[in-house]
Amino acid sequence: MGTEGLLSPWVLWLLLWVQPCRGAAEVRLADGGRRCAGRVEVKLQGQWGTVCGYSWDKDDAAVVCRQLGCGVPLEAPQYGHFGPGSGPIWMAAVQCRGTESALSDCTYAEWGQTDCNHRDDAGVTCSGFVRLVGGDSPCSGSVEVYDRDQWKAVCDSHFGDKAAEVVCRELQCGTTLSVHGAAHVGEGAGSVWDRELQCVGNESVLSFCPTGAPRDQPCTHGNGTHVTCTQYTGFRLVNGSTACAGRVEVEVLGTWGTLCASRWDLSDAHVLCQHLGCGFAESIPGGGHFGRGTGPIWRDSFYCEGTEAHLGQCPVTALGASLCSHENAAAIICSGPARPMSLRLVGGGSRCDGRVEVFQHGTWGRVLDEQWDKQEASVVCRQLQCGEAEAAYTPVRAERGRGPVGLHGVRCAGHESNLSLCNTSLLASAMAAGIAEDVGAVCWGSRRVRLADGAGRCAGRVEIYYQGRWGTVCDDAWDLADAAVVCRQLGCGWALEAAGSARFGEGSGQIWLDGVNCFGAEAALWDCPAEAWGQHDCGHKEDAGVVCSEFMALRLENNNSCSGRLQVFYNGMWGSVCSNSMTTETVSLVCKELGCGNEGNQEIILNYAKLSGTAWLDHVECGKSNSSFWQCPSDPWHPQSCDDLREETHITCNGKSEPSRHQVLLSTGYGEMQRRNPEGL
Ligand SMILES: *[C@@H]1O[C@H](CO)[C@@H](O)[C@H](O)[C@H]1NC(C)=O
Ligand SMILES: *[C@@H]1O[C@H](CO)[C@@H](O)[C@H](O)[C@H]1NC(C)=O
Ligand SMILES: *[C@@H]1O[C@H](CO)[C@@H](O)[C@H](O)[C@H]1NC(C)=O
Ligand SMILES: *[C@@H]1O[C@H](CO)[C@@H](O)[C@H](O)[C@H]1NC(C)=O
Ligand SMILES: *[C@@H]1O[C@H](CO)[C@@H](O)[C@H](O)[C@H]1NC(C)=O
Ligand SMILES: *[C@@H]1O[C@H](CO)[C@@H](O)[C@H](O)[C@H]1NC(C)=O
Ligand SMILES: *[C@@H]1O[C@H](CO)[C@@H](O)[C@H](O)[C@H]1NC(C)=O
Repeated sequence: MGTEGLLSPWVLWLLLWVQPCRGAAEVRLADGGRRCAGRVEVKLQGQWGTVCGYSWDKDDAAVVCRQLGCGVPLEAPQYGHFGPGSGPIWMAAVQCRGTESALSDCTYAEWGQTDCNHRDDAGVTCSGFVRLVGGDSPCSGSVEVYDRDQWKAVCDSHFGDKAAEVVCRELQCGTTLSVHGAAHVGEGAGSVWDRELQCVGNESVLSFCPTGAPRDQPCTHGNGTHVTCTQYTGFRLVNGSTACAGRVEVEVLGTWGTLCASRWDLSDAHVLCQHLGCGFAESIPGGGHFGRGTGPIWRDSFYCEGTEAHLGQCPVTALGASLCSHENAAAIICSGPARPMSLRLVGGGSRCDGRVEVFQHGTWGRVLDEQWDKQEASVVCRQLQCGEAEAAYTPVRAERGRGPVGLHGVRCAGHESNLSLCNTSLLASAMAAGIAEDVGAVCWGSRRVRLADGAGRCAGRVEIYYQGRWGTVCDDAWDLADAAVVCRQLGCGWALEAAGSARFGEGSGQIWLDGVNCFGAEAALWDCPAEAWGQHDCGHKEDAGVVCSEFMALRLENNNSCSGRLQVFYNGMWGSVCSNSMTTETVSLVCKELGCGNEGNQEIILNYAKLSGTAWLDHVECGKSNSSFWQCPSDPWHPQSCDDLREETHITCNGKSEPSRHQVLLSTGYGEMQRRNPEGL
């Protein structure tokens, strides 16, 4: 490019040098795909504009990176590398020493009627200051900061909850879900940063937090920090008569909306009640009980076990979810905040089994007894609305409580409606000479079913939680009617297959049921005729399995499984994915899901031929906070919006395949099934 034409206007600009003597002007980086890279934009007189790239260099870029808390400049592309901006070109001939704290502190010419063109807008790629590595998404992983040309691990003891809040906010990942020491430090395991972060918590980015010399001993690689952020930044119940009942509203990255009720269940509701300090969920009224929702409608479906501390810890899917109306808003009635003699069961596999704790004097305390049996357990189960008591027990040493004791000795007749109606003022003489120990209860409501080792919640070995322990089901007489009950119970649709002979591997522990013979309409597997619990003549090599219609899988159809036509298995058949609004995150998540590396390219196909078979999905729009393909929002299943082959998605991933579990699972005949049953429904 010639320079004469560029130099002459500079003479004019020299007359326009302005000395900065005002507050720092805001800057941002646009169209670089992340916060710390892009076209430089600056806000003057209340309007965003760009910076001319002539004479733009790394010293100037360094100031932008510093002002944004983005580490150091890696590149300072001069001319329109990140595409042309719009609006005024506010600055030209920028000259920074490199040590200024804001771009507007540098000398520059104010640019009025301009020769500089938006094609020449200046850009910056900064290193960034903090990242999370080695997790399933950019929003979870080991914390690393950029210091002196390399990424370094941050020591667990030099990093607090406040710093985690700042990191989640800076990475646009929402709020902190968990912070804990990481056994091994992420990728590379280079050096460890030798500073301690002293964030207040309100800093907008981590590099604005004060740092200091560590107070503790220096740490080693065994002491990294693992942070998981969640985009669910708030929850509230609205239009109920108390704060513990109402329609569920969820804040996603700062925007409040209504949660769709289509997959909302009691286990999800328990998690939310508990999180809000509202006890447990008594019911989930439907039909617009608390009025219609407002704001955007979130179609995320949660699959909680009921023991999680936060909805963000439950698996989530959104892919293919049906549209939802404001009338169909999720709602809950929780039991309410803890009050004297409220109970809870802790450490079990559900809210209805575990060690008993009682709320006394404003805190949860242990219950100790030396003659604890089913009469007392019955009262506990009744008070918690968990059904009949299945067992009363004293937890093994490792499961005993450590906190204060709330209640010492209790005698019930068994019919009391709650524990405060039992005799809790026992005389010393009434207590035998036994040793008082922690007590536990298993209630009927703790029974659960799950499908294990089948790559997804809707296919696998059938396992039942009974008497506080997981066990399996024997395949004698196991058929589709039995499988149908399991699929319905799990919200997994209809049964595609009742598998026998430990198709999904051998389980362990008890074999709880044998000779199961359902009609098919039962609400739960244990409502079906069968041998008595635990009575069987089977071994684990006969463990029963199920594949349900909501079981989903992915493949790249080709002779090489890391490249080809993207297909999704759903409702018993493979179908294509249309490529409208395909994002780079979607492509990456497909490659990750298939064990084919963590990035890929979308291939362009120039074939006008008509699509063969079903198209299952369109407008799959994964974002960077999504940690699996199944979480990504999309049009509802079966969109019928792509009809020729050019609109199908074809992907080539950067890695090689390790055969995954569902490929093995589906190599056994679902291709055939698709041919026999082309409609699949
Ligand atoms: C952050 O909080 C501290 C005190 O808690 C306050 O002095 C400071 O001004 C706050 N900073 C911002 C950016 O709000
Ligand atoms: C580092 O981890 C080891 C055990 O993994 C622990 O003993 C040590 O106290 C930790 N150091 C710091 C500074 O946290
Ligand atoms: C609250 O719920 C009642 C029904 O229980 C309904 O009549 C009312 O319109 C609702 N209010 C709002 C603001 O949604
Ligand atoms: C226990 O039952 C009594 C009588 O029904 C009731 O007054 C009391 O509030 C109940 N306590 C708890 C903790 O539920
Ligand atoms: C509780 O048990 C003690 C000792 O057995 C007995 O003396 C007392 O009367 C009982 N209290 C109630 C309210 O039943
Ligand atoms: C795999 O596909 C490529 C082109 O798609 C073809 O050239 C090659 O022969 C195929 N290899 C095998 C083993 O089928
Ligand atoms: C998935 O990403 C989309 C697009 O960024 C976002 O709207 C949605 O909240 C994310 N969902 C989850 C569960 O991360």
